[in-house]
Amino acid sequence: MMDREGKDNRSTLIGTDITYAAELLRQGELVSIPTETVYGLAANALDEDAVRKIFAAKGRPLTNPLIIHVAEIDQVSDYAQQIPEAAYRLLEAFSPGPLTLLLPRRTIVPDVVTAHLPHVAIRIPNHPLTHSLLSALRLPLAAPSANPYGYISPTSAQHVYKMLEGKISYILDGGYCAGGIESTIVGFPEGIPTLYREGLITKEAIEAIIGAVKRKETNQPLAPGMSVSHYSPRTPLILSEDIDARLAEYQGKKIGLITYDDYSEKLSEKDQLLLCRDNDLSAAASRLYAAMHEMDERGYELILVRKLPQQSLGIALNDRLNRASHK
Ligand code: TXA
Ligand code: MG
Repeated sequence: MMDREGKDNRSTLIGTDITYAAELLRQGELVSIPTETVYGLAANALDEDAVRKIFAAKGRPLTNPLIIHVAEIDQVSDYAQQIPEAAYRLLEAFSPGPLTLLLPRRTIVPDVVTAHLPHVAIRIPNHPLTHSLLSALRLPLAAPSANPYGYISPTSAQHVYKMLEGKISYILDGGYCAGGIESTIVGFPEGIPTLYREGLITKEAIEAIIGAVKRKETNQPLAPGMSVSHYSPRTPLILSEDIDARLAEYQGKKIGLITYDDYSEKLSEKDQLLLCRDNDLSAAASRLYAAMHEMDERGYELILVRKLPQQSLGIALNDRLNRASHK
């Protein structure tokens, strides 16, 4: 039974028991699953009541649709139809991996999953535990990121526990997510390959496989109900290229700085987290959300983040940080 806050009376367990996770999912319970991007909050996608529990646990509006996760490429056509050839080329190139395709849905996919939209978002995650779970289940799993709506996505089982303890039955612990930010979403409206969300696979990498891809304006909502403010810590966050100027501007405040390449000399190193050195944007991606979680726990008045280079993976990282900084 859920109480008014969506809290469950039972405690949340953390472990690596795939058989137990599969049993809970078959019974219509929620399980948090590791992926190569971020942890997901999963339910049997074909069970409407189970899927509704995801929205309740996250406090997510029912107008914001969910991605479904399957084990193998040949399962994609069980849930989607009129799949363009370019979609298959992307699947061959990047699946399993951080690629989500928006494709015309089949009616077997419940309305609650797609928020009544004509398309379904589908991906094949690349994580050994979740792959074994999906293979054992032979069911699609609907799973958004396992954070309360609007908050920072989790990249460890401990992040999920901190945010959803008491609201879900089980967290399948697959360690830290190697990728660290969400999948890249590609759709084909009127046959035109379109990037709906920047993610771990860069636009250039997609274009190397299928040619030119259109980019959706970043401040344009992806779907009804998708807010601009997202991925946000409770502590106000400011993204800036000029950290020295911001440190001067907010002098006297307790500031935590997330930066890269080198520490700022204007702030004690204990108040700084370094995402990467030598422009290693993959390393920065794998650490970004963990750094945001940690800074949010330290009790600063302000989190400053040095804007990453606006190229390659830096585009996706700055996109998340921009949304995190909207108040
Ligand atoms: O890496 C990921 O994609 C992670 C892991 C857990 O797989 N999942 C994830 O899910 O990021 P979520 O719900 O946090 O973000 C999915 C995005 C949302 O912005 C949603 O609006 C959009 O995908 N989306 C899902 N289904 C859609 C649909 N049918 N039409 C349009 N947008 C859709
Ligand atoms: Mg999310």
